[in-house]
Amino acid sequence: MNAQALLPSLKAWFQSYTHGFSSDDPIVQENLDLKREHTWRVCEAIRDIGWSLDLSKEDLCLAEASGLLHDIGRFEQYRRYRTFSDYKSENHAALGARIIQAAGILAGLEPVAADIILRAVAYHNRADLPLEEKEPCLFFLKLLRDADKLDIWRVVTEYYRNARFRRNRTIELDLPDVDRVSKPVYEALMQGRLVQTADLKTLNDFKLLQIGWIYDINFPMTFNIIEEKKYLERILDALPRQCPRVTEVYARARAHLERNASAA
Ligand SMILES: [Fe+2]
Repeated sequence: MNAQALLPSLKAWFQSYTHGFSSDDPIVQENLDLKREHTWRVCEAIRDIGWSLDLSKEDLCLAEASGLLHDIGRFEQYRRYRTFSDYKSENHAALGARIIQAAGILAGLEPVAADIILRAVAYHNRADLPLEEKEPCLFFLKLLRDADKLDIWRVVTEYYRNARFRRNRTIELDLPDVDRVSKPVYEALMQGRLVQTADLKTLNDFKLLQIGWIYDINFPMTFNIIEEKKYLERILDALPRQCPRVTEVYARARAHLERNASAA
């Protein structure tokens, strides 16, 4: 079976699997809903980027299947540990890949396609692209990582806009909201590198990590959407403007975006 034929049943499985985690606790339910909504938006974003690249229908479906399943480990992670912090629990991508295999939902798919989806899920949250991977797996992984980041930017910028009124400590990874940017975070970003999760010490660090994802974007369409939605500016709005480290990190990221968005 090809991905186009399998996609509807994968969507049905996703629905029933994730509904199995439903809870009467409104906080728990909110966090699960957040991840379900995120999944649908990632599917949308991956289709948008795929269309911009003139992908075949089959490749679009393959990409969408990876989007659909990429965060499947989040539900079990949250059930077991009540956190979305991999650092404080376990790697949700590896957990997701194990869940997909145990459920056997890709069994009917051509082995090459099933392997691409599994690898994309397993690698989607790595700090950097796995250089040992080859095409076409790398291509689908890049698509997934771009689409995933686009939607996380949507979620966090909406959240920061309203956080004055209502906090969600799970989204903030339980990091302290103190007026500080850690040195390793600042240094990584000024070299155009991604921030390591282990270096996150404050909520500001986490916001800057999200600005730094700009260095891990792969496709012109993604840069254009970031520009259009003003994601970098919106994260900056949630940071202390008087902090020199913030200003410098933002200016460097902004220049990178402008170089790439204008080239599209
Ligand atoms: Fe994820």
